Amino acid sequence: MTALRCLRKANILPRQKVLIYGASGAVGSCAVQLAKHHFEADVIGVCSAANVELVKSLGADRVVDYTREDFTHRGETYDVIFDAVGKLSAEHGKKALKPDGIYLNVHKDSGNGEKLADLLALKDIIDTGKFKPVIDHGYSLEQIVEAHRYVDTGHKKGNVVIRVWAPPV
Ligand SMILES: NC(=O)c1ccc[n+]([C@@H]2O[C@H](COP(=O)([O-])OP(=O)(O)OC[C@H]3O[C@@H](n4cnc5c(N)ncnc54)[C@H](OP(=O)(O)O)[C@@H]3O)[C@@H](O)[C@H]2O)c1
Repeated sequence: MTALRCLRKANILPRQKVLIYGASGAVGSCAVQLAKHHFEADVIGVCSAANVELVKSLGADRVVDYTREDFTHRGETYDVIFDAVGKLSAEHGKKALKPDGIYLNVHKDSGNGEKLADLLALKDIIDTGKFKPVIDHGYSLEQIVEAHRYVDTGHKKGNVVIRVWAPPV
């Protein structure tokens, strides 16, 4: 829902060039899929080498490994740049925006509060079969400290899941 709310702000048209920075994280992996399959954009994902295949599998048309290449130095410009992980300097990222391009940041553009209408919109998208959550690890509630430690590394792939209830055996 965070990714959907951010991307909607840009009124993305089919085939527009949308760059997702931090494409392998929770928000990023959702943003890649929504930009590609819902907004029908030309999607460029930015992630590290270890996540290139994952991001491609989510629908990115092209992937830039941020450990080897600065996407602002490619001579390419984008209609939308979405910093989905909040680790890109806006001043730097905006260098690769088209003159009328839109820059989005997960911290500034995800809006306030979750809305039922957004949840239902997402359900409709999931029902098309074109959107799949990326789950890295699952933890039980008793492992919550370990789960937080892992999330705090800043390098999870997609999401982690906490099981708060397990059926009795
Ligand atoms: N998750 C949510 O539902 C949610 C909702 C609202 C707001 N937020 C906020 O949105 C931000 C992102 O959350 P998140 O849960 O999506 O993050 P996350 O899943 O923890 O992000 C981890 C991913 O970011 C990538 N990454 C780390 N450093 C990077 C860098 N310098 N450049 C590019 N990619 C980098 C990592 O890939 P590598 O290992 O390849 O570096 C990893 O796959 C956070 O500030 C969070 O508080 C999240």
